Amino acid sequence: MKVKLIESELARLGKVPRLNLVNSLSGYKSANLIATANSKGQTNLAIFSSVIHLGSDPALLGFILRPTTVSRHTYDNIRDTSDYTINHIHEDMIESAHQTSGKYPAGHSEFEATGLTPEPWQDHRAPFVAESKIQIGLRFEEEHLLEANRTRLIVGRILEIRFPSEIQDPDGTLDLSRAKVVTISGADTYSLPATIRRMPYVRL
Ligand SMILES: Cc1cc2nc3c(=O)[nH]c(=O)nc-3n(C[C@H](O)[C@H](O)[C@H](O)COP(=O)(O)O)c2cc1C
Repeated sequence: MKVKLIESELARLGKVPRLNLVNSLSGYKSANLIATANSKGQTNLAIFSSVIHLGSDPALLGFILRPTTVSRHTYDNIRDTSDYTINHIHEDMIESAHQTSGKYPAGHSEFEATGLTPEPWQDHRAPFVAESKIQIGLRFEEEHLLEANRTRLIVGRILEIRFPSEIQDPDGTLDLSRAKVVTISGADTYSLPATIRRMPYVRL
């Protein structure tokens, strides 16, 4: 049997079933921790499944931030210092990474709450997550408020990348499966993808 739902039926679903259903529709998503600090040096860490590639020259990454109707420490800190790091989540970090989604009060760092370790990034305020194998340091470039639902696309320029040399293929690609990087579906399901095939560039 095939389930068919139109927009009005979707709207009538309860909040949680709608959220769970719609959140699965974009397909597998990236799993990252965004680390920041405010200008007083107070660190913050939160999980994000919306990090996307925007372009490689200049090297840019984007992520979607939920509406700022409640306090969003990641956003406040990025606007305060312009620094942030994106840190891939691998298999052994799932529990502590997921824990960072809790609403911790300002002044209570998720690093202390979860046992994850801040790794200094030279003279930048934002730390990397020491446990992550793939670490990306960025500078805030621009933000776009999406009128449709008051979320924001936050755009950052990549300033530095750190990763173990063994996971890089000769052509430059990082083999995420070798680093055991996980993927997220919905808001709570973590999977470990396996590389099954690489395809050549299509030239016509
Ligand atoms: C699996 C998962 C993925 C999430 N992805 C996002 C996301 O892409 N954007 C977002 O704004 N919040 C996302 N969240 C929610 C944040 O992690 C949560 O709001 C967190 O408390 C934000 O922390 P902050 O206020 O310290 O920035 C996600 C939560 C989970 C559990």
